Amino acid sequence: MYLALYRKWRPKVFSDVVSQEHITQTLQNQVRLGKTAHAYLFTGSRGTGKTTCSKILAKAVNCLHPVDGNPCLECEICKGIENGSILDVTEMDAASNNGVDDIRDLRDEASYTPSSCRYRVYIIDEVHMLSTSAFNALLKIMEEPPPHVLFILATTEIHKVPQTIVSRCQQYDFRRIRPADIASRLLEVSENEDFTLTEDAARLIARLADGGMRDALSLLDQCVAFSDHVDPDVVASTAGIAGSEQIFALADAILKMDAGEALRLVSELYENAKGIDRLCSEMISHFRDVLLCRSVSDPTGLVICLPDELERLQKQAASVSLDRVMEILGGFQKCLDNLGRSVNKKVEMEMTVIRLCTGENNAAVRPAAGEPSPDMAVLTARIAELERMLTAGLQNMQQMPVRPRVSVPRPVQAAEPDVPAGKQEPLTQWGDLLQELAVREPALYVLLQDSTAMRSGNVVSIESPNAMLKKLLLADNIGAKLADIVEEKLGSRHRLRVVKQEQKETTEVPPALDDILQKAAARDVEVRVRE
Ligand SMILES: Nc1ncnc2c1ncn2[C@@H]1O[C@H](COP(=O)(O)OP(=O)(O)O)[C@@H](O)[C@H]1O
Ligand SMILES: [Mg+2]
Ligand SMILES: [Zn+2]
Repeated sequence: MYLALYRKWRPKVFSDVVSQEHITQTLQNQVRLGKTAHAYLFTGSRGTGKTTCSKILAKAVNCLHPVDGNPCLECEICKGIENGSILDVTEMDAASNNGVDDIRDLRDEASYTPSSCRYRVYIIDEVHMLSTSAFNALLKIMEEPPPHVLFILATTEIHKVPQTIVSRCQQYDFRRIRPADIASRLLEVSENEDFTLTEDAARLIARLADGGMRDALSLLDQCVAFSDHVDPDVVASTAGIAGSEQIFALADAILKMDAGEALRLVSELYENAKGIDRLCSEMISHFRDVLLCRSVSDPTGLVICLPDELERLQKQAASVSLDRVMEILGGFQKCLDNLGRSVNKKVEMEMTVIRLCTGENNAAVRPAAGEPSPDMAVLTARIAELERMLTAGLQNMQQMPVRPRVSVPRPVQAAEPDVPAGKQEPLTQWGDLLQELAVREPALYVLLQDSTAMRSGNVVSIESPNAMLKKLLLADNIGAKLADIVEEKLGSRHRLRVVKQEQKETTEVPPALDDILQKAAARDVEVRVRE
């Protein structure tokens, strides 16, 4: 029978557990000195060694010949616990035994002295799943534990464990496993198994596993099923991850604020069966790496990537400001948080990408409450830059004829060849179309929600307060999609034009400058608030 790698490679002694030295050292010392507690609480994310350490501790406290606080694995107790023939050690999964009766049974049994061991050990995994009455029953035993009983509770969700229980335990927080530790463990495994694993591939898996050793080993297992020579390509196709090419391209598009290209890449990745959650996580790790490259002079060792990627990362880092990287990271982090409750993950991702490409969520300028305020120097530099642009813009403007305000919507591009010749009629079907969009294409709907439309001949003029709409519709997959939907609705193909809604100004202002003015005004307010 095939044993999954993560099972086969479960550490048997404390010294094999990686990245949790602060915990294993303490437990080992306690066993060595005979000073173990009656209740332990192991917390931390999945696959970091909680169950593993529970099993080792259960053996160590009962082992007949412990070696420096580790179980010997040779004596009849160690062997009996391992093969399950000794019933003094009980593992219970609270996810499936969460009722008060389960805990009452446990309590009755716990009062008896162990049959062959020194301690009766109860390992309760996922302890946060216990019902309230079960917690209360457990609390009763923990308040006056028989001297021969040892509880080891484990959970990924410590906040769901009542404080009354927590306070009776020695608590140990398992941290995410360092990527370098995961990579070297994977290489160690591969040396003892009949497949090869390249160093690059090990690092890639480590990066994808995000601190969880179980996930890393499971992914390696899947790779091996695919090929007995595991290199980064095998990992990439097994994990369904984008080649780093596409991730770099998406990052580039965002850095260049090219919404069209960025959305195209998201769609392409999505169609290649790339999970949106994973894509989002990868963008976070990518920009985290950019951030590291931006912040430290020698990121080798900190950045987990393939050797040739480091140079490209550093190039991207050199091209971007620190606060812009923070803004992008914040955007994807928020997206990842939202994905869990989002009905349409792709739309959530698209909206994030659009925001990041239009600078609409300027996180660096408008920090949420509680977050540190941005560096004043950064703001000052931005304002100086805006002032420079404004002056340049105003000089240009003075050379332009100033026209009085007109009442019809004004095309953004005055010289477009297909200016509607005939009279503009309000497009009555527009409201229905928007409602349909809300269901079919929520991302488009968000862009268009405050818009109205006029029609003249085969031209539909969309009027919207959204300054970015025109730019976004020029991105072919968005514009074309909308054109298709309009065609469906009106029965024939129409040209789409975007016209900007009139503001209160009485003079024409070039659109680019208009945008700058709006942003400058917004920033101005921010700065005043901050003073
Ligand atoms: N710190 C670690 N060092 C080495 N391997 C580990 C570590 N943590 C987890 N593993 C591997 O992952 C598998 C699952 O770990 P486990 O202890 O069950 O995680 P959990 O924290 O979710 O209880 C183990 O069998 C082992 O192969
Ligand atoms: Mg576990
Ligand atoms: Zn032993």
